Amino acid sequence: MFKRAKASIAKLKQSMARQEEHLAAQTDALHRIAAHLGDPALGPGGHRAGVPDDFDPAMYLALNRDVAAAKVDATHHFLNVGENENRHYRPNYMQDGLITIHNTSFQDDPAFQDAYARGVKATGGQDYNWHWRVHVGLWAARCAVKLPGDFVECGVNKGFLSSSIMHDLKWNDLDRTFWLLDTFAGIDTTGVSSEKNDPGAEDRNRKHFESGLYTDDVSAVRENFAEWKNVQIVVGAVPGTLDKITSEQIAFASIDMNTAPPEIAAMEFLWSRLVPGAMVVLDDFNYRGYEAQHVAMTDFAKARNTSVLSLPTGQGLLVRPPND
Ligand SMILES: C[S@@+](CC[C@H](N)C(=O)[O-])C[C@H]1O[C@@H](n2cnc3c(N)ncnc32)[C@H](O)[C@@H]1O
Repeated sequence: MFKRAKASIAKLKQSMARQEEHLAAQTDALHRIAAHLGDPALGPGGHRAGVPDDFDPAMYLALNRDVAAAKVDATHHFLNVGENENRHYRPNYMQDGLITIHNTSFQDDPAFQDAYARGVKATGGQDYNWHWRVHVGLWAARCAVKLPGDFVECGVNKGFLSSSIMHDLKWNDLDRTFWLLDTFAGIDTTGVSSEKNDPGAEDRNRKHFESGLYTDDVSAVRENFAEWKNVQIVVGAVPGTLDKITSEQIAFASIDMNTAPPEIAAMEFLWSRLVPGAMVVLDDFNYRGYEAQHVAMTDFAKARNTSVLSLPTGQGLLVRPPND
């Protein structure tokens, strides 16, 4: 047994040595390429002719860590090696705090595009560039619609996400209620114990009203949702309004009130009503600047023997476990 372990370790060491040699040879080759290239004839914008207009050397190095590590010139490398190797020189997705070269083909799906466009319409044409966040919301809603129960959103604002979902699920064909709760007056600072839980709440309110992100025009919101039946718009501050939700079974919840105390109160109210497998999208869970929600929701889930999935979109996803 001991002999066999020793032999495996020796084999592992040999393989690691081979890999190191291989890496050294590759780095050496990259250096030689760089040395042979000499100074390129620079085109407009300081790029060598042939480089795509949107080529950014710093981005190329960020996306190709081996090239950065070899300390070769990004433009030289792309033109002479990287282009042939189909290397990424720009990300596929770069908005809303997320940059990635990964597959974003969900954006090409006509159903996604339609639903997203309906979300943009709800805001009066303002595109928040939330594509991946809406993709997550739609995915969760499509899973939830296979379960019994109603839908809830706490923090609706102009209705971007909920409108996308209702459009996508063809809400009028379903026999379910979508509960839409919001102060329609921004964050309820009277209900937030501001020094302790959310020191920035009042500032954020002011900023969001000034920029036109938040709305207090409830009639415009009602007009947006008028095309759908079985919609309940509940005006007022959570947690005070939660008992207006009369459904005993909830299959989907979107929690997006930008501050921890009402979000936790909403989760406490909804938890026993969430059906097994129900989807809860926590819009701010992983978003930079919303750490209080991250901590509070992490504790909330832990106390119920589960956890929140952190998403690179800034959201979190919580699935109601089947047996607890
Ligand atoms: C980021 S917005 C919601 C965006 C929305 N989910 C969408 O898809 O466009 C946050 C909303 O939470 C609301 N809000 C904040 N605190 C609240 C509370 N205690 N009760 C109800 N709504 C609240 C604000 O009025 C604001 O409209």
